[in-house]
Amino acid sequence: MQKQKPYLESMPDINGFFGKFGGAFIPPQLEQPFSQINEAYNKLSKSFEFLHELRKIRKHYQGRPTPVYYCKNLSDMIGGGQIYLKREDLNHTGAHKLNHCMAEALLAKYLGKKKLIAETGAGQHGVALATAAAYFGLECEIHMGEVDIKKEYPNVVRMKILGAKVVPATHGLKTLKEAVDSAFEAYLKDPVTQMFAIGSVVGPHPFPKMVRDFQSVVGIEAKEQFFEMTGKLPDMVCACIGGGSNAMGIFSAFIEDAVKLYAVEPAGKGDKLGEHSASLTYGSEGIMHGFNSIMLKDSDGNPAPVHSIGSGIDYPSVGPEHAYLNNIGRTNVGLCNDDEAVEAFYKLSQYEGIIPALESAHALAFAMKYAKENKTESILVNLSGRGDKDIDYVIENYPIPHK
Ligand SMILES: Cc1ncc(COP(=O)(O)O)c(C=O)c1O
Repeated sequence: MQKQKPYLESMPDINGFFGKFGGAFIPPQLEQPFSQINEAYNKLSKSFEFLHELRKIRKHYQGRPTPVYYCKNLSDMIGGGQIYLKREDLNHTGAHKLNHCMAEALLAKYLGKKKLIAETGAGQHGVALATAAAYFGLECEIHMGEVDIKKEYPNVVRMKILGAKVVPATHGLKTLKEAVDSAFEAYLKDPVTQMFAIGSVVGPHPFPKMVRDFQSVVGIEAKEQFFEMTGKLPDMVCACIGGGSNAMGIFSAFIEDAVKLYAVEPAGKGDKLGEHSASLTYGSEGIMHGFNSIMLKDSDGNPAPVHSIGSGIDYPSVGPEHAYLNNIGRTNVGLCNDDEAVEAFYKLSQYEGIIPALESAHALAFAMKYAKENKTESILVNLSGRGDKDIDYVIENYPIPHK
């Protein structure tokens, strides 16, 4: 009998499809540059030098491995399941985004590109890419919605200090989706010397696969570290999901294990269209930004307006692999609204001395609810980033609670 290929080797297929989701729906002028990126990635992902270089960067520059931490105070306070964090907030630049940015920039360097171009929501991908560009001596241009520029100002300043040009997206809701539109437009003007370093497991093939593979270091480390600490695997792993790169990073190590996986979506401030960005929960199949997935649509079938307090997760779609895994029942969806995220933000700060990013606070808030109901389980949360960028916004809008 023929042995089945491991999941990560068999998905996506050669054309970038996870079942019916994924693919590359791109204009003809992008076909050549995307196929060049795909070929280069296929070659480099098997090259000793590329992997050795990346390993060196991860260890000596990024500060990996990041630890897994047991939240004893928080778990005791909840009185239920045990909560552990994978501390991606301790990765250099303060979030998981640098894991794929360093690799994308290394790939760009190999391809002889001069400039990196990308979108950013919370500014974390922008900061990470600007950092990678500085490291590799490349130019960098980051597109960001005008609303997010105001909200995530510390990250805008960081990008500029790092030498990046920040271009405001001024149309529509002026948030993450518009930033992607704007970056795509700028990239289309010169796909030869520029590389679009997409910030999540979204976009046309090969980005969903490539970004997942670059983020898989999170899951590989976490699985080993958790086992070393507890002698077993966690019962449940959860992560917040915008496009879904931090979630795919940690899920990828557990897909073939008997571990429950929860993708936590932003329930925002209500269940009406425009009040949330819970694409898997309320969306339907559609194509946007070059890939087929589940998306939130308005009555004309266009991407719907979305909202979340977490600027990095207010996106009207999800990576195609998430759509697939959810569709086949391998992953579950959790929901967390704005207020619950802020409550978790303060709880982690006051009980553990860790200020989380508002995006990551969504995963934590869901884990806290889950722990109350599943008292014997151990829960591993991907703490995708730190909250320094969010402190001004939180303090101006939500009073500090008494412990
Ligand atoms: C800290 C943090 N977590 C999560 C996300 C969401 O991205 P993804 O769903 O690709 O992990 C972002 C995006 O900016 C972020 O900054």
